[in-house]
Amino acid sequence: MSIAIGSDHAGYPLKKFVIDFFEKNKIDYCDLGAFSEEQVDYPDFAHKVAQAVSEGKHESGIVICGTGIGVSIVANKHKNIRAALCCSVFMAEMARKHNNANILALGARTTEENDAINIVKTFLNTDFEGGRHAIRVNKISAFSEK
Ligand code: RB5
Repeated sequence: MSIAIGSDHAGYPLKKFVIDFFEKNKIDYCDLGAFSEEQVDYPDFAHKVAQAVSEGKHESGIVICGTGIGVSIVANKHKNIRAALCCSVFMAEMARKHNNANILALGARTTEENDAINIVKTFLNTDFEGGRHAIRVNKISAFSEK
């Protein structure tokens, strides 16, 4: 499994923390920036991650900004992307089980680092339940293809 990860300047410290977790646990990832806390625009990095996942270069993605709101709005503009802003482990579990989310959005200014790691672990280790949820997710795709 390969994960694309990106953030703006506000999300950079949490991105570093998540990457440290990936390194320690030998989880394959690709860091698409930003690479410092110098001010940047979150759409640039959310677009990069969403595009990479949409094109199938990575199975899933993580986007981080101050609140997670901006990056999730941007990522959801892309075809085949279901980005979920998760503030709790329960939200991450539901985002996978019910929504088949393929991008996790996190808020670095709203989520404590250790909570974020538990959210990431849950997001990466929970499968889509399919069934009635697949019917609903297909309706999202059908609408976005109009
Ligand atoms: C940057 O200050 C902040 O606006 C950005 O990180 C994000 O929270 C936007 O949604």
